Amino acid sequence: MCGIIGCVGGEKALDVLSSGLHALEYRGYDSAGVSFFNESSEIITVKATGKIVNLDEKLGKMSESEKRSSCGIGHTRWATHGEPTERNAHPHGNERVRIVHNGIIENYRALAENLTAKGYTFTSETDTETAALTIDYCYKTNGGDAVKAISEARALFDGSYAMGIIFADRPGEIYSIRKDNPLIIGIGEGKNFIASDITAILPYTKDYIRLEENEIAILTPDLVKVIDENGNTCDKKIEKALWDVKSAQRGGYDHFMLKEIHEEPEVIEKTLAPRIGANGLPAFSDENFDIKRLAKARRIIITACGTAMHAGFMAKYFIEKYARIPVNVEIASEMRYADMIIDENDAVIVISQSGETADTLAALRLAKEKGAFVTSIVNVVGSTIARESNATIYTWAGPEIAVASTKAYVVQSALMVLLSLGLALERNTMDEQKVRVLTEKLRYALPKDVSKILAMQDEIFDAVGYLSDKTDMFCLGRGIDYYAMIEASLKIKEVSYIHSEAYAAGELKHGTISLIEKGTPVIVLSTDESVRQKMVGNIREVMSRGAYVISITTPDAQIDAVSERVINLPSESGEFLPIAAATVLQLMAYRAAIIKGCDVDCPRNLAKSVTVE
Ligand code: AGP
Repeated sequence: MCGIIGCVGGEKALDVLSSGLHALEYRGYDSAGVSFFNESSEIITVKATGKIVNLDEKLGKMSESEKRSSCGIGHTRWATHGEPTERNAHPHGNERVRIVHNGIIENYRALAENLTAKGYTFTSETDTETAALTIDYCYKTNGGDAVKAISEARALFDGSYAMGIIFADRPGEIYSIRKDNPLIIGIGEGKNFIASDITAILPYTKDYIRLEENEIAILTPDLVKVIDENGNTCDKKIEKALWDVKSAQRGGYDHFMLKEIHEEPEVIEKTLAPRIGANGLPAFSDENFDIKRLAKARRIIITACGTAMHAGFMAKYFIEKYARIPVNVEIASEMRYADMIIDENDAVIVISQSGETADTLAALRLAKEKGAFVTSIVNVVGSTIARESNATIYTWAGPEIAVASTKAYVVQSALMVLLSLGLALERNTMDEQKVRVLTEKLRYALPKDVSKILAMQDEIFDAVGYLSDKTDMFCLGRGIDYYAMIEASLKIKEVSYIHSEAYAAGELKHGTISLIEKGTPVIVLSTDESVRQKMVGNIREVMSRGAYVISITTPDAQIDAVSERVINLPSESGEFLPIAAATVLQLMAYRAAIIKGCDVDCPRNLAKSVTVE
């Protein structure tokens, strides 16, 4: 998703823009650009397609004096309207106004027609250029009142936006505005910043404020002023980032994805420990969260997107198993348009790593409109989803930079297991001692198994070699292993571009097995020994049709006999092993991406936080 950075103050604004854009790379993009005031207070705009190094190369050709700047804005573009070309890269505007934008102006065609009738011409295919020229028109016709022009333009916009705006006759000022897209204001010493997220400005400041819906911020080197949509000055609380620069850097790993997989044991402990009492039982004291209220729900609806939704499947399995509450898992992009039957007797849990996913946010708002109490499971403190929920339980996974979600999924799943144990206590569906034993296993045995799996990395990587020239494969499992393989399959697809399909092992024979032919890779996950015999039978079905089976399993001679490769799992975490198995499958996906030469941290077409529909 697009990334925004802006800096006003000091003489090295361009350095801030460049480092900020690199920090925002993880959000996914296909072009980048900057607009900055030079020493003559002229706006200079430089853009490049592809990686940010291409932009750096263009900027590198400028002299030091040409690059000396105290005010500018920058952008990484994830194309929504118009091809990923230099012409469509941000910043957009004209000689009077330049803007960077994250979001979609839905009515940009109508606005463009109006502007064309007023004599404006366009150089790009983007909705953003239309937004910029709309602001210009308002600025020109209202005599140069920047805030008024932005307010007038905002009234015309239909859609979502986070914007950074500069006016040629106002060097040393940056304006910003947001609706349905996050934007933060960094507070520094003699310089101030705008950014899509805190990771872009961590090297300069940890102090920031969050712009709320329809607020306008005015930044100068020594002032940050925020006004609401009625023109009133807002008294904003300065927050301090919990993350440090190191946590948002690669730390010696080849890629963020690998680093974040290796952080899993540590972040499981960080996420669970604050929610386990001295008595060894689940104890949730998160702000506004009341487990008693959740325990009374007639039904729990879990809604999310992608990997977060897959953590929802894990939650369904354990909440139904331990707390005996019916759970529906809903795709957020479907739920937001479905005429769902939800009322105050239902509880809704929203899961999101970024806390900014547009579809998930829309599903959250729908659930609240229908009277449900909404609890969010979020990894970014103060994110929009967190702030719009009735209660939030934060995961403490730290910044997840790689587009492919790994550690967030593992801690989301582990946290939901703890929540299901807490619900079981509240509903007396399990006795206290049993809950205590399982809580201890979750907290200690699970991270230990993950650590043992990380120590098997070379063996796991070696098993992936077979996939290096493959384009299609299957991921099979039964019960919770099937849920785990749905997520595994997405991981493999999104980073290695191998078309993978997760299938309930028992269902394959009802049609899809026709796709199995000699050499088809099939990864099997079998941790649930209660269906082991069935799983062995399913492996035989595909093996007899030529499949190449890689089994991930607790040690079993029968599985050995019907598999080309076997990865034996540690098994101290027992029923939580499918969560630990995610680490195996994430390492396999990572390795497959590497041997196929894919950009594993920034896979093609993907964005880290999908803040548009
Ligand atoms: C995960 O690997 C993907 N990048 C994607 O499916 C992601 O999980 C989804 O977009 C939801 O994001 P969120 O958790 O930030 O809401």
